[in-house]
Amino acid sequence: MSDPAWWRQAVVYQVYPRSFADSNGDGVGDLGGVLSRVDYLASLCIDAVWLSPFYPSALNDGGYDVDDHREVDPLIGTLEVFDELVDALHERGIKVIVDLVPNHTSDRHAWFQEALGGGRGSAARDRYVFRDGRGENGDLPPTDWMALFGGPAWTRVEDGQWYLHLFTKHQPDLNWQREDVRSDFLRTLRFWGDRGVDGFRVDVAMGLAKDLRDPLPSWQQIVPGLAILKGLTFDDPFADGQHPLFDRDEVHDIYAEWREVFDGYDPPLFAVAEAWVKPHRRVRYASATGLGQAFNFDLLTAPWGAPAVRAIVQHNLELAARSGSSSTWVFSNHDVVRPASRLALPDGADPRLIPTPTPDTVALGLRRANAATLLSLALPGSAYLYQGEELGLPEVTDIPPGQWQDPMARLEDGVAITRDGCRVPLPWITQGPSFGFGEQTSHLPQPEWFGALSVQAQTAAPDSTLSLYRTALRLRRDLQCDESIEWIDLGEDVIAFRRANGWTSITNFSHDPIHLPEGSVLISTQPVTADRRIPGNATAWLRAGTTAA
Ligand code: GLC
Repeated sequence: MSDPAWWRQAVVYQVYPRSFADSNGDGVGDLGGVLSRVDYLASLCIDAVWLSPFYPSALNDGGYDVDDHREVDPLIGTLEVFDELVDALHERGIKVIVDLVPNHTSDRHAWFQEALGGGRGSAARDRYVFRDGRGENGDLPPTDWMALFGGPAWTRVEDGQWYLHLFTKHQPDLNWQREDVRSDFLRTLRFWGDRGVDGFRVDVAMGLAKDLRDPLPSWQQIVPGLAILKGLTFDDPFADGQHPLFDRDEVHDIYAEWREVFDGYDPPLFAVAEAWVKPHRRVRYASATGLGQAFNFDLLTAPWGAPAVRAIVQHNLELAARSGSSSTWVFSNHDVVRPASRLALPDGADPRLIPTPTPDTVALGLRRANAATLLSLALPGSAYLYQGEELGLPEVTDIPPGQWQDPMARLEDGVAITRDGCRVPLPWITQGPSFGFGEQTSHLPQPEWFGALSVQAQTAAPDSTLSLYRTALRLRRDLQCDESIEWIDLGEDVIAFRRANGWTSITNFSHDPIHLPEGSVLISTQPVTADRRIPGNATAWLRAGTTAA
């Protein structure tokens, strides 16, 4: 029987299916493509795959606009292929986590269509958040709220009412006070659980419970509480748990119901919350009576420097201890600029604004990204990796605006802000119309330099990022031990710690080399000199007590 705590120190690899591999030559990645690469996934030595949404969708938000939570988009597969994929991954000892999007449906979802037809006051409309507008003819939206991707958060329908959408207008927010909404999602959990999935990544987990009683507050009142979404914190006029839209205490009543479903499986289904909340508020999402684990996004906005990163690591280990869960380490996902580009930015720069890369920034960014990866892989807890980071892919910054797919894509100070740059289909081979992604060009354009970073090119090179990941992940599996950690003081610019079995990780954040302590070097992101010095922006793992001859 599988270990119920398998997830506590798992390496979870995120697959963004439409950009992973295309098996039918239509330019869009699909489940058959993932199936054709299960041996590649196994070769990485990961413990679980998290599949971003593969549900039917008009792709107004990369698949996070779901038409049907219990189906596969016919363009990218079928439930039968999904089952095959789950079996193939399980045969290789890899667990499967699917993305669940409970805060909203798409506007093509049968419920929303019913709501439109149902008319004002209908039960079908009550599954969403419909309100009359303000002004003489109700032609002003009910509030001045903004959607998180820009523009108003309300859209008017034919009969004059307005519906709430915190994301695009194609993603109407559900009303989680409705019993039928709650029970339908319990059905969705069982649907995937019964198909053999091992767990869920819960999208916008902090958003389901809302207080929409009149009088609704103004945008000015609400916005400080949303600043957390950008990694900022301002004084929030609402007490913890009382913000009208996010992180309300009642959201945990919903997860208590889910927990009963999870615990009905052996081992219990796993869940990780995507909860953009103040760090201390993650504890409830991560507790054993809640979803069980929560993403720690603190490293996504942290400056490159030992003091900041050390403080984040220590704080998150404390939070994990408080929740009883394990911590999570996230440097990358489908929503943020790839770390190989982000980590080269000068101090204080906006982590979403990536200038055109130069050879220097590319080299520095990759060095730091690899150092960060080895650091996070040595920490107790789960490491979340995002497809392509094992190839050291930088952000693609020159996608022509006409080909942008991300609904929040825009220019700011002449620089593109779009999540498309981290969602460009993977390069598998050095040449060909889409570098082995599929038979044709891919749905987002790949840059010419992608071939040199392909799996094929890097497999052959022992000093490639891919080889580094493979070696590190294999070592990590062999070195697994309890979750305790002992800090080693090697100075302000260094993060060093030892695990219970002597496994030691040392990251040098400075630009100058440092001497390594005793112990044999297992792996390092930069060469270690004969006199045991490691350069700046590098991590080495040692096995304490056994200095190599
Ligand atoms: C989550 C997803 C993001 C999506 C948003 C709305 O933050 O990670 O990609 O746009 O939810 O569903």
